[in-house]
Amino acid sequence: MIEKRRSIRQYKPDAVSAEDLEEIIEAARLAPSGTNRQPWRFVLINDEAGKEKLAGAVVQPFVLHAPAVFICCLDRNAYTRGLVEKRMKELVRSNVVSEEAAGYIYKRKMPEQTEDVVIPASAYIDLGIAVEHMVLTAAALGLGSCWVRLFDPKQVHESLGLPGDIEVVALLPVGYPAEEPSPRPRLDRDQIMIEAK
Ligand SMILES: Cc1cc2nc3c(=O)[nH]c(=O)nc-3n(C[C@H](O)[C@H](O)[C@H](O)COP(=O)(O)O)c2cc1C
Repeated sequence: MIEKRRSIRQYKPDAVSAEDLEEIIEAARLAPSGTNRQPWRFVLINDEAGKEKLAGAVVQPFVLHAPAVFICCLDRNAYTRGLVEKRMKELVRSNVVSEEAAGYIYKRKMPEQTEDVVIPASAYIDLGIAVEHMVLTAAALGLGSCWVRLFDPKQVHESLGLPGDIEVVALLPVGYPAEEPSPRPRLDRDQIMIEAK
């Protein structure tokens, strides 16, 4: 799947079945995340009314031609002390993390309330893993998708009426491929491996 996957920017009009969409959502749900915080949230747009709301915020029209678009978001609540400690305690209870290691996390400065949360870099790592799970699952189902960051997240947030604790990060249009792009160039193995001194 990793070798076959491409970013797909042309889709057949055929709808994606509810089962396939659920399998894609399940792939995101099962992703790993720092302290098992699972900060990802998704909105599924798969009707014309929803796409009309996205229209003004999208730069590349192909996004609106996909039968389904996932709006990939982060939930600031996941970074409040209450929720981080809850997740940490779950990990300690299942003997995945020691009390001592958990202690390091509890000592960290953490916002008590959502309004004070500045989303950390680790959140984007976690969301990235979840979205790539979705991308690979879509590919395994014979579907195409494309990561999209070239759009106006504030406008999407506003037009979809999302809550203030949600930050919109990326779009993931999904549909049956109507193109077979050749592989995009990649750096060589030796260009990505660095020797330690
Ligand atoms: C985080 C991220 C953001 C991207 N944003 C866009 C985008 O806004 N528009 C677009 O057409 N492609 C976007 N892409 C797709 C890349 O252009 C593509 O992955 C790259 O050219 C390699 O091609 P491939 O995915 O077909 O292997 C994005 C990819 C990633 C991972």
